[in-house]
Amino acid sequence: MSSPQLHRRLIGRLRIRRRVRELAHQIAQDYRDLHPVLVGTLKGSFVFLADLVRELPIAVEIDFVGAASYGPRTSSAGEVELYCSPRLSLQGRHIIVVEDIIDTGITLAQVLERLWELGPASIKVCALLRKRKAGQLQVEAHYLGFEIPDRFVVGYGLDCKEQFRHLPDVWTVRGV
Ligand code: IMP
Ligand code: MG
Repeated sequence: MSSPQLHRRLIGRLRIRRRVRELAHQIAQDYRDLHPVLVGTLKGSFVFLADLVRELPIAVEIDFVGAASYGPRTSSAGEVELYCSPRLSLQGRHIIVVEDIIDTGITLAQVLERLWELGPASIKVCALLRKRKAGQLQVEAHYLGFEIPDRFVVGYGLDCKEQFRHLPDVWTVRGV
């Protein structure tokens, strides 16, 4: 099997930065006095979350959930392991789930189900990327960075077999 290689730069860092700023301003308007908890989904959202919070002019708290399919993959296996839960008490809190990418929506649906069990006042989703494809679960991204074609992408936190997370731009890959 060939190792994955970068193919094409799909979204450059400047476009990402501009869009992250816009999302942060929208969120700041909606949550001004609500002191929300941003819950990042590990590992893919760590870069997006770090950039997003630094553009937010309101007080927030930060926590994480770990969500993984069993084993490395480039297409959704449909089985999600939640391997890490938030440490903060989320009872009565306003949660914004920060997700790197919505593909089938299975991961996000599971994360939302788990978070609702913790008794929050509200949950909204902020996703950097959403693939345009059929058969997606109807999980809503209230804040969305970019719609992208149904291609496997890496960079800006996203990986292919744990490679490429550190890249500042979003790329398509070949050989996956
Ligand atoms: P879903 O459960 O099918 O929506 O897949 C969501 C999860 O799969 C994301 O949180 C990513 O971790 C991973 N994923 C889906 N598509 C991609 C991709 O194109 N690149 C990297 N990771 C992806
Ligand atoms: Mg992820």
